[in-house]
Amino acid sequence: MADGFSPFDFTPEVEAATHPLWEKVKDKVTPLEWRVHAPLIAAINDLKKQKNAVILAHNYMTPEIFHGVGDYVGDSLGLAREAARSDAAIIVQAGVHFMAETSKVLAPDKKVLIPDLQAGCSLASSITGDDVRLIKQRYPGLPVVTYVNTTADVKAETDVCCTSANAVQVVEHVAKEWGVDRVILIPDEFLARNVARQTDVKIIAWKGRCEVHERFTAQDILDLKEAYPNAEVLAHPECPAEVLEVSDFAGSTAAMNDYVIKRKPRQVVLITECSMADNVACDAPDTEFVRPCNLCPHMKRITLQNIYDALLNEQFEVTVDEAVAERARLAVQRMIDMPPADKPARYDLVKARHHVDVELI
Ligand code: 13P
Ligand code: SF4
Repeated sequence: MADGFSPFDFTPEVEAATHPLWEKVKDKVTPLEWRVHAPLIAAINDLKKQKNAVILAHNYMTPEIFHGVGDYVGDSLGLAREAARSDAAIIVQAGVHFMAETSKVLAPDKKVLIPDLQAGCSLASSITGDDVRLIKQRYPGLPVVTYVNTTADVKAETDVCCTSANAVQVVEHVAKEWGVDRVILIPDEFLARNVARQTDVKIIAWKGRCEVHERFTAQDILDLKEAYPNAEVLAHPECPAEVLEVSDFAGSTAAMNDYVIKRKPRQVVLITECSMADNVACDAPDTEFVRPCNLCPHMKRITLQNIYDALLNEQFEVTVDEAVAERARLAVQRMIDMPPADKPARYDLVKARHHVDVELI
């Protein structure tokens, strides 16, 4: 146990120290749960100070993690940016393994920890560095844009990375820079199809899928709209194109968050991972959230308990071979350095051209 708060006892001191956090999450966490969470939150926040550590928490973390211990919270793009500029000695990635690898690639001198090494991703495991080498042989001279949801090995074979927040912008920028009309955008087939509908650049795609977002169907959205005619439906671009076609807005997790906070819809449905709505709801008391959602089993491996253990024992360290990291860094850094788009990427398929297909490898 660390000096300072015990991670087990809900003492008056713990209660006082965590009170502002409780006020924030009390609609999403029960008092009984809080008695277990609060001591861990106090102990984790203590350990962070002692060890000069920061916690980068993805939008899919549960509210007690996201609001309780996250120092930087956001989408994949935001967390990557933060890893690059953080001056902490230790980064704890409250997210999945590819995110921790990205942090290590961008911050090679820091100790990067992931609380559970099994926190993977169906997209990251859909493709290997060898696959990308073969793709490059098959399409010589075409740029390879890779979604950040990939291993460092895959990023090392890549020209530029992208996230769902900037995929259209990155594809168009790269096509112009290389003077080509086709770009390889891997491994998310659905993201690639959604990007293809937003640009004149032709897209070559891979058959990777997010196991959380691929399960939503257009019929789900139509049923929801019938049941909740006033609800605004926001979908993540890892969903099938048919889902986005019948949604009101699509964007990265950060874009969905912005939409709710700025536009304050009376009723909203977030077609994405379940914790996302809980986290936004804590900051959007005037919006009612309808909650059909799917859980990501990988994200849900991260808990307050294993974050505490990670910090206390400095486990599990994520390392990346330096030669691989050096090449992967170029691809991620090119993305981070890209000038901001004139307007944020949207996947508003009501206005987009339909029937734009991709070439599937
Ligand atoms: P964002 O990049 O929108 O945060 O989402 C990616 C994702 O699904 C993380 O697993
Ligand atoms: Fe991967 Fe999908 Fe889970 Fe994100 S939500 S970590 S893309 S499986």
